[in-house]
Amino acid sequence: MSDIAEITLEGKSYQMPVVVGTEDEKAIDISSLRSASGYITLDAGYKNTGATTSAITFLDGEKGILRYRGYPIEQLAEKSSFIEVAYLLIYGSLPTTAELQDFSDRISRHTLVNEDMRKILDGFPSAAHPMGILSALVSSLTAFYPESLKSNQSDEEMELSIVRLMAKMPTIAAWSYKNSVGHPVNYPKNNLDYCSNFMHMMFAYPTETYETNPVVVDALNKLLILHADHEQNCSTSTVRLVGSAHASLYSSVSAGISALWGPLHGGANQAVIEMLEAIKADGGDSKKFIEKAKDKNDPFRLMGFGHRVYKNFDPRAKIIKKSADEVLAALGVKDPILNIAKELEEAALNDPYFVERKLYPNVDFYSGIIYRAIGIPTNMFTVMFALGRLPGWIAQWKEMRENKEPIGRPRQVYVGETERNYIDMEKR
Ligand code: SDX
Repeated sequence: MSDIAEITLEGKSYQMPVVVGTEDEKAIDISSLRSASGYITLDAGYKNTGATTSAITFLDGEKGILRYRGYPIEQLAEKSSFIEVAYLLIYGSLPTTAELQDFSDRISRHTLVNEDMRKILDGFPSAAHPMGILSALVSSLTAFYPESLKSNQSDEEMELSIVRLMAKMPTIAAWSYKNSVGHPVNYPKNNLDYCSNFMHMMFAYPTETYETNPVVVDALNKLLILHADHEQNCSTSTVRLVGSAHASLYSSVSAGISALWGPLHGGANQAVIEMLEAIKADGGDSKKFIEKAKDKNDPFRLMGFGHRVYKNFDPRAKIIKKSADEVLAALGVKDPILNIAKELEEAALNDPYFVERKLYPNVDFYSGIIYRAIGIPTNMFTVMFALGRLPGWIAQWKEMRENKEPIGRPRQVYVGETERNYIDMEKR
C-alpha cells in the first residue's frame, strides 16, 4: 500500500502522506494542501474528516467493535467498575489494587462542593432542566478554583482539576435533581462507593434512611462504563476544540455538556422515553410511528435509532438491552414501554427503509428503560449520560493538551455577496 496520496488540481499534482493507525485505519494528512495548492477540503459534519490521532478509544462502526485503551467494552462492562474504567481512560492502563484505591480515595475526599454553589443553584427556577444547571455549575468551578484557569498547569495542578471534577460532578448532578423537585440537597458520604454515593445523594430523604440496592448500583456501574468514551463524537470534539484554546478543563467540559444536551446526541435518551410514552398514549401502534419516521415530510425520527459511525448494531445497545431485561426482572419492575421498544426495534429491523440506511438501535434506545427502573427521572437521563462520559471527556482533553495540539480553527468556502459599496439610507 502506498504511503503517499496524490491529488491532481488544475493539471498540477500534489503528494500528501498517508497515516495508518494501529488498527489499520488510513487517513490522508492534508495539512500541506492549502499552502501548496490554495485548495481546502469541505466535509459538512466532518463525516469523513479526522480531527486528530488518539490512543484512547477504538471503534469499528461496520463490525460493531468498541474498545477503551484496547480492552473490549463487553469485558469491561462485565468485569470492571466505573471508577476503574475512568482510571483506564484517563491514565492509559488498568490500575493495580493500590492505584485504584488511591484514585478512589482521592475522589472521595473531593466530593464536597463549596457552599456558595448552593446560592447559584438556588437561583435556578425548579423548572430549570438539570443539564442547564449542570453545565452552569461545572463552569462555575473556575470561580472556586481559579488556578484551574492557568494555561500552563503543572501535572499536579492538572491532576487536581481532574480529581475535583470526577468527584464533584455527581454531587452537582444530584443537587440539580434535588433543585428540580424542590427537595433539600444531600451531602456526599465518603464511605460509599461512587455509584452508591450518587444514588444516596439523589434519593435519600431527611425523614428516612436510604439503603442502596446492589442490583441498582451494579446496573448504574454498567451504564456509566458503557457511556464512558466514544472517540471523537460531537460533545467530545467540543471539549477538545474548547480546550485547544487553552480554556480550563471545567470550561471545556461545561461546553461538552451543552453539546451532549442536543436531542440528536446525548439528549436522545430522554427523547426515546418521551417517544415511547407518546406511542403508548397513542394506543401502542409501533407501525404507525415507523411510517412517520420514514416520511420525509414528517419531522418525526425514531429516536435512539441510527448512528453516525455504527452501521451495524451499537455494541453498547446490545449489552444495555440484555441488562434491561435482567434489571427489570431483578427489581420486579414491569414497564410496558419496554415491550413497545422491542416491538419498535423488531419492526424497524425488518423494514427496508431502516435496513437500507443501516439504522440500528444505538446506546440511547434502551438506556432510559433501565434509568426509569432504578428511579432516575426522565429529565435526568442526559445528566446520567454526562456522568458516564466525563472520564472520556477528561481523557481526550488531557491527551489533546499533552500532545500540545494547535488551537482548532477550521476554514470555510465563502458563498456570500462579493464586494459591494455601502448604500446611504435615502438610496435603499
Ligand atoms: C449518540 O457520535 C457518537 O458517537 C454519538 C454517541 C456517543 O456515544 O457519543 O454514540 C451518542 O449521540 C447516539 C445517537 C443518538 N441520537 C439519536 O438517536 C437521534 C436519532 N438518530 C438520528 O438523528 C441520526 O441517526 C444521527 C444523528 C444519530 C446520525 O445522523 P447522520 O449520521 O447525520 O445520518 P443522517 O441524518 O444523514 O441519516 C441518514 C439517513 C437519512 O435519510 P436519507 O436522507 O438518506 O433518506 O437516515 C435517515 C435520515 O433521514 N435517518 C433516520 C434516522 N436516523 C437517520 N430516519 C428516521 N429515524 C432516524 N432515527
